[in-house]
Amino acid sequence: MQKKDLDWKNLDFGYRVTDYRYVSNFKDGEWDDGVLTEDSFINISECAGILQYCQEVFEGLKAYEHADGSIVTFRPDLNAERMFGSALRMEMPPFPVDRFIDAVDQVVRANAAWVPPYGTGATLYIRPYMFASSNVIGVKPAQEYQFRVFVTPVGPYFKGGVKPISICVSDFDRAAPRGTGFIKAGLNYAMSLHANVTAHANGFDENMFLDPATRTFVEETGGANFLFVTKDGEIVTPHSDSILPSVTRRSLMYVAEHYLGLKTVERPVRYDELKDFVECGVCGTAAVICPVGRVVRGEEEILFPSGMEEMGPVTRKLYDTLTGIQYGTIEHAAPEGWIHRII
Ligand code: PLP
Ligand code: COI
Repeated sequence: MQKKDLDWKNLDFGYRVTDYRYVSNFKDGEWDDGVLTEDSFINISECAGILQYCQEVFEGLKAYEHADGSIVTFRPDLNAERMFGSALRMEMPPFPVDRFIDAVDQVVRANAAWVPPYGTGATLYIRPYMFASSNVIGVKPAQEYQFRVFVTPVGPYFKGGVKPISICVSDFDRAAPRGTGFIKAGLNYAMSLHANVTAHANGFDENMFLDPATRTFVEETGGANFLFVTKDGEIVTPHSDSILPSVTRRSLMYVAEHYLGLKTVERPVRYDELKDFVECGVCGTAAVICPVGRVVRGEEEILFPSGMEEMGPVTRKLYDTLTGIQYGTIEHAAPEGWIHRII
């Protein structure tokens, strides 16, 4: 198969229209069979529920090409299950887990020419999403929905690739206590835009959000979970009911424990503990694991000992092991079920 003519090594994290996407509609209480289509536009009513009250959930995962030319996704079942749960919380009819995985496979297969070649460092980002497509004017759930999957080839989420980033503690909250912070709904991201623009305007790459009830515990960034390394080489990740349960974070905690022999702990992390950690990273599908060199809160600045030039040694090991599993380059086999082969 002839790959598309793109500058694969220099892709940004952007949207490029690819050849095929998947569409299935929910009407009269059931999902239809779904099809692949070449049409990248959506024609909906001006009063569609998505446009009025933001009834939408989405997912993000990636396809990777291996050295032998095979194409795989990473733990797509976890994304399918998470989207199922997100839909229930948003009073939307969940899309079946097996159909989600099949739809992703179909779209990746149909767009194989867009999967970045092995060794370029780029990946095919996959965006499944569903939204309320029928008219809603009184505040209530819609009757009809559309589930779609598109793909786009991407490079690194943060411009510098894996260079340490600088983040600030946001004055705004991303989630409410007992709200929707733990699901992947577009409304959480709309909420975070003002904080994001403000952080960028002040010269920061990202925000650190604190727990909305007390503002004493670390939550996450607008698009990734946190991992910290203690002086003793233990991996700590914040526990909170208002953050997204990241597939990458869950995988890294497993890798840390089972591949690298490190102690791992998921627990509430107080902001005032930050100064005691030696490394900090943010992790997610888009971010992979990106080192954080500096956290600023008002006048106070925390510089992690790993600095602003390089990834810390533990973060580097986690990064190499996880990407090695995803690209099929490490010696140990990936844990059972983690690599889902499509081609
Ligand atoms: N937290 C938020 C708010 C996110 O948007 C994402 C991205 O999906 C993550 C964490 C990381 O999750 P995952 O590793 O499943 O991509
Ligand atoms: C992802 O990592 O897949 C996300 O959805 C994060 C988003 C901010 C790009």
